[in-house]
Amino acid sequence: MHLGLDLGTSGLKGVVIDDAQAVMASASAPLEVSRPESGWSEQDPAHWIAACETVLEALRTQIDLIAVQSIGLSGQMHGATALDVRDQPLWPSILWNDTRAADEAAAMDAEPTFRSITGNIVFAGFTAPKVEWLRRTHPSVFERIAKVLLPKDYLRLWLTGEHVSEMSDAAGTAWLDTGARDWSDDLLEHCHLTRNHMPRLVEGSDASGHLRGELCQRFGFRSGVVVAGGGGDNAASAMGVGVVSEGDAFVSLGTSGVLFAANGAYQPDPETAVHTFCHAVPGTWHQMGVILAATDTLNWFAGLTGSDAATLTRDLGALHAPGKALFLPYLSGERTPINDAAIRGAFVGLEHATDRQAATRAVLEGVCFALRDCQVALEATGTRYASLLAVGGGSQSTYWLTALATALDKPIAIPAGSELGGAFGAARLGLMAAKGAGIEIATKPATERLIEPDPALKAAFDDGYARYVQARTAIGDLS
Ligand code: XUL
Repeated sequence: MHLGLDLGTSGLKGVVIDDAQAVMASASAPLEVSRPESGWSEQDPAHWIAACETVLEALRTQIDLIAVQSIGLSGQMHGATALDVRDQPLWPSILWNDTRAADEAAAMDAEPTFRSITGNIVFAGFTAPKVEWLRRTHPSVFERIAKVLLPKDYLRLWLTGEHVSEMSDAAGTAWLDTGARDWSDDLLEHCHLTRNHMPRLVEGSDASGHLRGELCQRFGFRSGVVVAGGGGDNAASAMGVGVVSEGDAFVSLGTSGVLFAANGAYQPDPETAVHTFCHAVPGTWHQMGVILAATDTLNWFAGLTGSDAATLTRDLGALHAPGKALFLPYLSGERTPINDAAIRGAFVGLEHATDRQAATRAVLEGVCFALRDCQVALEATGTRYASLLAVGGGSQSTYWLTALATALDKPIAIPAGSELGGAFGAARLGLMAAKGAGIEIATKPATERLIEPDPALKAAFDDGYARYVQARTAIGDLS
């Protein structure tokens, strides 16, 4: 058996699969985000460990963990977790949707070497500018940094005692030479760091270490359980649904929203806000458009209206044409296509008829239009796909997926087990690390349901998108 652990933003999930990739057990534990200032988003790494302990305890009540041969890791990307020489966190982890380092990011981005070596804009949420923010604002903390780890790699440190990362997540730091799949000494030096501050790199499907003996005893694992490199949550989700070859793509409605396309080669387009990262298996890369708030917007609106996301989306009925009310989902700035850390969200076009259902539909549509922005950006780089798979919690809503299929004008397949996301993909990477060659990585899970665009509403969604683009420009000037 093989265990996948996905350290998400809103919770940590664990999934155990057998050698035939059937799910044997799963468990999760929630996580909170702290937002002490506008644009800030942090977590205490100790909470990740506590959530992992809860998940491992829950799994061992379902199955005997002695049968587990490997562990694969998936996690929220870009988080800056700065550690001292004793591996103690010096600061809360600064997460992927934190935009405090916008000035530092802009300064780095103005140095042509960052885009040419990493293949990406230096976004405020990437790791390097956030460490630079620490250096500028808290120099005494910066001086004590011995290692900088990404969130799932901090979890790996607890699991194995080793400082290791892998290519897909490392590509989101702004310190990786993405084409060469290695740290860039030049970029690190630019940030007053060296390779010694970085974890060792492996491929996602390779072993990164072994589970510490103490944890084997405590949770009932056999000794010598292999811990695979794993992947950033998007690359790991892609592994879970077999999105690894050119023409394969998925859309993720998680805390963030992602349109992810696998590429046959390294195809950077750093003049655009399309992300180009290593994939989780050797010799593969991918592109993605990322929006910072997908289910996060619905949860925010649910909180505002004293409801919850499931209640809000339950009674929406058949797909409606977008109404007058339009929502811009920029609750913490936006990456693709505008790279604007300062922009904030808005409702426009509110009228007396805008009741709770109409406003909920506007929130869902706003996310769909933001993902259409990502599709336009991906297509402008030459990337093409005929259909999409859906992953992430938001894909439980048929209304949302039908609106999305119509806004993107692409059929969307819901794969069996789509809710398992990165954890399932991580378990598959563990299986590959334990068994080596011979694992069919491009296998796609069975389709549970296929959601087709609604041809009768295509023109209305096109009009809605045109209004959205106008409103985005106007809101950008106001924010
Ligand atoms: C990707 C990104 C998000 C996080 C969410 O660039 O920032 O998708 O990985 O967990």
